[in-house]
Amino acid sequence: MDLENKHKDNEAKSGIFNLPKLPFNFPKLPIKLPKPPPPPTHLGDVELPKTLMYLLPIGGLFTLAFVGAIASFIITAWWGQPIPVLGFEQTFDQPINFPHTVHASTKQLDYKDADGNVMVGLGTDCTFCHRTVNKNTAAGANAYIPPVNFCANCHGVIGSEDNVQLNILRDAAGIIGEDGTSPINWRRVHRLPDHVRFVHEPHIRYLSANPEHIKGETDGVTTGPSAVCSTCHGNVASMEKVYQVEPLKMRQCVDCHRDNGAPTDCATCHH
Ligand code: HEC
Ligand code: HEC
Ligand code: HEC
Ligand code: HEC
Ligand code: HEC
Repeated sequence: MDLENKHKDNEAKSGIFNLPKLPFNFPKLPIKLPKPPPPPTHLGDVELPKTLMYLLPIGGLFTLAFVGAIASFIITAWWGQPIPVLGFEQTFDQPINFPHTVHASTKQLDYKDADGNVMVGLGTDCTFCHRTVNKNTAAGANAYIPPVNFCANCHGVIGSEDNVQLNILRDAAGIIGEDGTSPINWRRVHRLPDHVRFVHEPHIRYLSANPEHIKGETDGVTTGPSAVCSTCHGNVASMEKVYQVEPLKMRQCVDCHRDNGAPTDCATCHH
């Protein structure tokens, strides 16, 4: 291979090649771009009515307030107290309108019994019905809602024969009606996600021993385990229908654990 050819060969390898000139010219494409529209003037030539000029910024403020409301809703949903205005305090109907007032309060009620007498609440201890709530057993994880036969011990005889709500109960207990007994499917008001572990017993024990950490009050109940429930459930004895008072989100649990020397590692509360 002579020197010149070797040089060309190198050029080819390094890619510095002069492309041969095309033997024709590209034709000019017959496309005409549309003329760009004239730059916008202020809403064309129409003059805005004076009042509208004032209304537009107000509309903007409303939009801002609306976005703000949504943002604060999301933030409170995550961190804080539910906003009562948005209907958090209205709970749903239960299969039987069970009034905690009549059974658990110790105060004079806005309720007339079967004989037409204004009633003072029975002041029944919370653990009379929620009997495993302070038990340190496997069952103690659950606060327990009593079965219908338990209610029927009293309501076989107590309360008017025409009381519609009590008759749903008597029917379910097989006292009236033909279809025998059937359970009452109470709907849960408080429910933590499945990945969270909560046990009542250590909390009842701790709060009973450290009453200065009890929050709120339970309509007249001041002794025993029942005196501490208000810390997380509010004044249930004053509720016609139970509703959730405390957010019971992770922050609240962890804050209280930290402040009271309880464990805060993830496995304490998560499976
Ligand atoms: C210790 C007895 C006792 C037990 C146990 C008991 N109750 Fe009652 N309950 C009463 C009394 C007393 C009244 C008022 C009766 C009246 O109206 O004369 C009442 C009233 C009621 C009423 C009527 C409320 C209304 O608005 O008219 C319902 C409903 C009711 N109870 C449901 C239940 C359910 C459900 C249970 C079981 C979880 C239960 N009770 C357990 C004593 C009891
Ligand atoms: C006579 C029985 C009885 C007594 C006494 C009683 N409860 Fe209840 N409780 C019930 C029944 C039945 C339900 C389920 C229906 C409902 O949610 O209203 C319930 C529901 C609840 C719930 C909601 C459970 C959920 O679904 O999240 C809480 C919290 C509660 N009770 C707390 C208390 C406290 C606190 C006391 C004492 C001040 C108390 N209860 C006294 C029978 C009783
Ligand atoms: C430290 C806060 C705290 C205290 C104190 C507390 N609870 Fe609860 N309670 C909860 C939480 C959280 C749940 C929801 C548990 C779940 O979803 O697993 C709950 C659920 C319940 C339920 C629904 C059924 C169940 O077992 O999940 C009842 C009934 C109940 N509590 C009654 C009571 C009573 C009665 C007391 C007082 C003796 C009490 N609680 C004290 C936090 C508390
Ligand atoms: C009022 C303060 C308080 C609140 C609110 C609270 N805790 Fe506790 N918790 C405690 C204390 C104090 C203990 C330790 C009690 C003891 O000495 O055994 C404890 C113990 C526990 C235990 C048992 C730990 C163990 O290994 O023995 C679990 C599980 C638990 N809490 C979960 C929760 C969850 C979930 C929440 C929120 C829904 C919550 N706690 C809210 C104070 C609180
Ligand atoms: C004292 C109890 C407690 C401890 C300790 C705890 N958590 Fe939680 N955590 C909760 C509760 C209660 C919820 C459920 C809140 C709710 O209702 O959405 C939760 C929810 C969560 C969620 C789900 C959030 C969601 O959007 O549902 C994650 C992820 C989580 N925890 C991670 C952790 C990690 C990581 C740790 C350890 C650093 C930890 N947690 C320690 C109580 C606890």
